[in-house]
Amino acid sequence: MRISIFGTGYVGLVTGTCLAEVGHDVICVDIDQAKVDGLNRGEVSIFEPGLAPMVRANHAAGRLRFTSDPMMAIEHGEVIFIAVGTPPDEDGSADLQYVLAVANTIGQHLQMPALVVDKSTVPVGTADKVRATIAAALAARGVQVDFEVVSNPEFLKEGDAVNDFMRPDRIIIGTDDAEAVETMRRLYAPFVRSRDRFVVMDVRSAELTKYAANAMLATKISFMNEIANIAERVGADVEMVRQGIGSDPRIGWQFIYPGAGYGGSCFPKDVQALARTAHQHGFEPRLLDAVEAVNERQKSHLFELLQRHYNGALAGKTFALWGLAFKPNTDDMRAAPSRRLLEQLWAAGAKVQAFDPEAASETRRIFGEREDLLLCDSEYAALAGADALVVVTEWKQFRSPDFSRIRRELADAAIFDGRNLYQPDEVEAAGIAYYGIGRGRSIRSLPAQ
Ligand code: UDX
Repeated sequence: MRISIFGTGYVGLVTGTCLAEVGHDVICVDIDQAKVDGLNRGEVSIFEPGLAPMVRANHAAGRLRFTSDPMMAIEHGEVIFIAVGTPPDEDGSADLQYVLAVANTIGQHLQMPALVVDKSTVPVGTADKVRATIAAALAARGVQVDFEVVSNPEFLKEGDAVNDFMRPDRIIIGTDDAEAVETMRRLYAPFVRSRDRFVVMDVRSAELTKYAANAMLATKISFMNEIANIAERVGADVEMVRQGIGSDPRIGWQFIYPGAGYGGSCFPKDVQALARTAHQHGFEPRLLDAVEAVNERQKSHLFELLQRHYNGALAGKTFALWGLAFKPNTDDMRAAPSRRLLEQLWAAGAKVQAFDPEAASETRRIFGEREDLLLCDSEYAALAGADALVVVTEWKQFRSPDFSRIRRELADAAIFDGRNLYQPDEVEAAGIAYYGIGRGRSIRSLPAQ
């Protein structure tokens, strides 16, 4: 099938590449000419395992092309995806200007019937706005072309996006149009192993499904962070509690890991946008507001533990940070808990020596060169001369460190484990003070807040 995709960001590029991989003829369009030129040379600027070789192979095979010419893309596509960004407005609602600008462009150039697919995460009701925008642009030209607008939310996880696209849990199609359903079925046939994974519903339910999925996952995390904070105070270990509840299939093992707070491009933005939608419709979303508030507080938790351990005297100290990205296997720093910690440490007069396997250059781009930030080449280089170690992101290579080496390198021999990677006994046996998230036993010794 002939597919066009507006937006070569994270979602657009993964979608276009994976559709080309199964044999569709794909054109990706972006207004950023430099990005388009780079992609045509096989340069992929985002770090996503498996994506770059797949882009190059499909580009070489002629199934995946990149252009900045929207007309070419609109002429090409029998299915046209909108996969541009929906950044949060100042009030937390999703900013639709890019989505609607694409809709307008489609209406200005459409000649042949097409199916327009909303892939961007957009508030309920956006498909109707996209439809109206295209119709208005067509009317302004005085032409009539058949088109349908379908909602098809994405559920890609960064770091595993190619796999998520190639082997989806489910594909959600929001439309009332039977022909559109058939077109989407053909498009996704190579990815759908059983029919029950292809879920068709009305367009508003599809739009809400995306927010509900992310809000539910964010709720699980905030819930566990809340339990962790209680565990700390009552002297329990949230890791034991997690193991105790995860085996109940109604609760499940996934997304119950307490930590430094959720970050990334989706959860913070989507929870806020859904809460905003609820408020706009006159409904106070108490749970969503709390999920967000718990997460905001959690992002300061590591700093609070540091402050308690050092009795507030952080000025002049140097901390080794392991991990900066909002999660492993990505270089993404959007809403990363590390950002809050860095800013708090700097404000308190502390220095940071950080190592992240992928996110160093993104960190440099965000914060620039600073005297109080040293970006190191390895996790052990970050320890040299530091007072204590703070683990912020659970990269695999941090899981089994050489504790005696950590002990030797650190001035103060303390680990603040923001992802509960280590066993308190093992760390303490190596002569290092251990603080995790929600691990009351080791935190009991700290002065109260
Ligand atoms: C998420 C959704 O998983 C995906 O389906 C959606 O399409 C986009 O948003 P992503 O943001 O890539 O994907 O990351 P994810 O792996 O879900 O993690 C989000 C955040 O939650 C990370 O900061 C992670 O560290 C945190 N997290 C996750 C926890 O703190 N505890 C957990 O148990 C799981």
